[in-house]
Amino acid sequence: MTVFITRVIPEDIKLPIIDQGHEVKEWKEPRVMTDEELIEHCKESDAVLCISQKLDANFFDECSHLKVVATNSVGFDHIDIEKATALKIPIGNTPNVLSKATSDIAFLLMQTVARKALFWHKEILNGHWDFLDPFKDLGLDLQGKTLGIFGLGRIGLDLAKSAKGAFDMPVIYHNRHKNEDAEAEIDATYVSFDELLVHSDVISVHANLNEENKGIFNIDAFEKMKSTAIFINTARGGLHNETDLLKALQEGIIWGAGLDVTNPEPMDQNNPLLEMKNAVVLPHIGSATLETRLAMVKLSIENIIAGLNDERLPECVNPEVYD
Ligand code: DGY
Repeated sequence: MTVFITRVIPEDIKLPIIDQGHEVKEWKEPRVMTDEELIEHCKESDAVLCISQKLDANFFDECSHLKVVATNSVGFDHIDIEKATALKIPIGNTPNVLSKATSDIAFLLMQTVARKALFWHKEILNGHWDFLDPFKDLGLDLQGKTLGIFGLGRIGLDLAKSAKGAFDMPVIYHNRHKNEDAEAEIDATYVSFDELLVHSDVISVHANLNEENKGIFNIDAFEKMKSTAIFINTARGGLHNETDLLKALQEGIIWGAGLDVTNPEPMDQNNPLLEMKNAVVLPHIGSATLETRLAMVKLSIENIIAGLNDERLPECVNPEVYD
């Protein structure tokens, strides 16, 4: 059988597929393939490992023969899961292995924004390291401040542990369902969404994007936050309203923001957020460490092999296909 991979991956990682007698084809051009190109390649394949590729209903209509799709990400909002499930195509993802790396980026953004580190770096580049006014452009301490987590799952839990260890930050959180294990592990307190907004010094977003929470961090939410609050989003850009966030930062409604995700991605290079001294934007690098990316792609290959062998995927987002 043939496995199509939408990027080039290390040779040794592909071996388990080849050892089973399957063929691997990769998209080798350094650009994102078009929907038509993707369909064309997948029509000739039995399985697809997608890296940063949108798979919509039309894709599944055209490629309903696929035995398995593996996304090299924990998030799967770029895939029409309902459609795939209706066609009985199992979708694999890569939870757990990227939690620490992603929470580290949230932690990094929290500190970078609190201490205005990127702004100060730009000041040096712009030749402004001359006379330093001791009371201008100061940062904020994080010690003992309240961390509010929107979506306390594995990534949020890792961030909470880092924040507690480094800065003794008490943790409050808001989820659709209480996470009692996490509450016990890190002494986190469940609060309503409004309480999260009102009481947090730092809000870090770790929820999956869905129709209910799309744009939930809008101007109404920012206006409820402290004027000294920091907003961090390493989950999905669709969870915040970018125009409202810009207004909140420009008007001092909140103190700062750190984003590893934007809407759309990539962000326009002329986006005014990139010029704000109280904002830091990264190009979605939450899982971008060597160790983590290798672990993710290995798990994706395990998902692919299981799918080709008609076995249950080790990490399946639509287990209903097995009913
Ligand atoms: C994920 O795995 O969902 C990360 O956000 C990378 O896309």
